[in-house]
Amino acid sequence: MSNTTRHPRKILVTSALPYANGSIHLGHLLEYIQTDIWVRFQKSRGQECYYVCADDAHGTAIMLRAEQEGLSSEALIERVSWEHQNDFATFGVAFDNYHSTHSRENRELSELIYTRLRDKGHIATRDIEQMYDPVKGLFLADRFIKGTCPTCKAEGQYGDNCEACGATYTPAELIDPVSAISGATPEVRSSTHFFFKLPDFADFLKRWIHDDHVQPQIRNKLMEWFESGFNEWDISRDAPYFGFEIPDAPGKFFYVWLDAPIGYLASFKNLCDREGIDFDSFWQQDSDAEIYHFIGKDIVYFHALFWPAMLHGADLRTPTAVNCHGFVTVNGAKMSKSRGTFIKAATYAEYLNPEYLRYYFAAKLSSGVDDLDLNLEDFAARVNSDLVGKVVNIASRCAGFVKKLGDGQLSRHCAEPEMVARFIAAGDTIAEDFEAREFGRAMRKVMELADEANTYIAEKEPWVLAKQDGRDEEVLDICSVGINLFRQLMVYLAPVVPAMAEGARHFLQLGSLDWHSRHDLLVGHEIAKFKPLMTRIERDRIDAMIEASKEDLVEEQKLKETPKGPLADDPIADEITFDDFAKVDLRIVRIAKAEYVEGADKLLKLTLDLGGENRTVFAGIRSAYAPEALEGHLTVMVANLAPRKMRFGVSEGMVLAAGNEAGIYLLEPHTGAEPGQRVT
Ligand code: 2FM
Ligand code: ZN
Repeated sequence: MSNTTRHPRKILVTSALPYANGSIHLGHLLEYIQTDIWVRFQKSRGQECYYVCADDAHGTAIMLRAEQEGLSSEALIERVSWEHQNDFATFGVAFDNYHSTHSRENRELSELIYTRLRDKGHIATRDIEQMYDPVKGLFLADRFIKGTCPTCKAEGQYGDNCEACGATYTPAELIDPVSAISGATPEVRSSTHFFFKLPDFADFLKRWIHDDHVQPQIRNKLMEWFESGFNEWDISRDAPYFGFEIPDAPGKFFYVWLDAPIGYLASFKNLCDREGIDFDSFWQQDSDAEIYHFIGKDIVYFHALFWPAMLHGADLRTPTAVNCHGFVTVNGAKMSKSRGTFIKAATYAEYLNPEYLRYYFAAKLSSGVDDLDLNLEDFAARVNSDLVGKVVNIASRCAGFVKKLGDGQLSRHCAEPEMVARFIAAGDTIAEDFEAREFGRAMRKVMELADEANTYIAEKEPWVLAKQDGRDEEVLDICSVGINLFRQLMVYLAPVVPAMAEGARHFLQLGSLDWHSRHDLLVGHEIAKFKPLMTRIERDRIDAMIEASKEDLVEEQKLKETPKGPLADDPIADEITFDDFAKVDLRIVRIAKAEYVEGADKLLKLTLDLGGENRTVFAGIRSAYAPEALEGHLTVMVANLAPRKMRFGVSEGMVLAAGNEAGIYLLEPHTGAEPGQRVT
């Protein structure tokens, strides 16, 4: 079964490019883990496979977010890119290249594709009317307009549909519409837009989606869209916009979704230039390479209609397949911030081993588009029983005897050649499952083998034999078989749990756990001392992660409520009456004690003396003050704020500080003020 005689397949794989204005969460991770497992499998089989991704860096949302944080768009996307790459590395998602859509390669490729489309007559221009924010000086996408629903009169409804009654409308029909960005009343203004003439590609697309490039469920969905007919696609946005200016069209920018998928090419081009790979041999029309996009089912429209049409229109080859997956639910429901089930990658990794999640997702993934439920009870039970109870158990039961009786060396012959041969042969059907993205099926087969290996050891009872005279060789034989079986399982699990596999490879003292390496039996082979390769999931870690996720929400809320940066741009808050103000009990306090809070990189724990009474307050001022610099100082607190339970304890009020990107400044009264005095 050696692959050396066959040419490796040339494969390029992508996952959707995450937006550069938010954190990676478990919903994202399903896709990156699914793709990474598939890529690792291909590499294990010896294919020439590249996995590229990038941050999706353009658009109004990113521009506004940067402004809110007091940063340039470039500085924001730079920071987020590092955060994203750090999260991916933590979860073992091993891209061959991670780039940005805000890159030279992407600009060049976007211009190339656009001008080819334009020169062939696939671009139209016409004037359209849109809501315009006269204060911010920009056109407003639907989601940036809010107002009262024309049907049920619910207030504060965004865009073009009402969350209260479900009515759909145009933003112009909202009663008292306001810009969600500035609060100003929007005006209707006209401007010229550029359109990609998708209907030019109707016949091409109809053939394309019937040609096995998408899953059957997706094909059906696409056919529904076909039947309702499709329109030209608006691919331009007016300045100010964070993106690429359209060639020969000053003040007009490519819509973020135009240059986002081109970012796949850009990231690959960047890799090719660095490593001397032939870019064109992947993307020219007669390419023999395979190209796969892994995406969520929510963005299929872009990937299975616009994208192949754009590529085809620009004389480039189209993807081999667009592989869609469903959404992640937690405990049977949509991820929820308030329930603490909207879990960020970084928060998860603070509490739990990322490989648990990789295994659980793999165990539940199929090639379909159904949603995947992360049931936290089942998650703990499955990981503990399969990885720890079954797989690691084989090695831990056998390793000690090999150490003791063989001085770390396995038997010089294989006592169960048929059984080991069966485990090796199973690799062929397991490989078919991996190839077809039927990871759940593959994992079930691996666990059946693990059960078989455990049964073999349990029936042979080496620990009983070891107590009998003259049976040491038999015990070593049994345990050597066990280690060989364990090795086979780790070859099959390596794409799913690469860090655990790396530990196993070290324990087995092997150069590689690649798919083809499994054919060489381990006889007379020395192994290292066994160290536990994975420990059980403890329920309290899961609970702590959920609590921490609730806390993430509080932090986010605070960020929203206290935008940093050019605060001058922020309209002064709505007027309040004197009575409203009088409800706030502001007091002078002395900071009696200030301490770091373990595990919280933004907070200090303050003990505040209100003139006799002490309060504990957690304040987000760690970046600005060392605790010892605060002790003894006076400041002002809101003394009648409802206590708030935080991850680290209850906060009984808040201290007042001014703050923006430049720093945080606690308010301090003039000399003479006394703790406990009311501030009026
Ligand atoms: O939906 C999203 O998160 C987009 N940022 C995905 C872009 S994928 C590709 F087209 F770039
Ligand atoms: Zn309504």
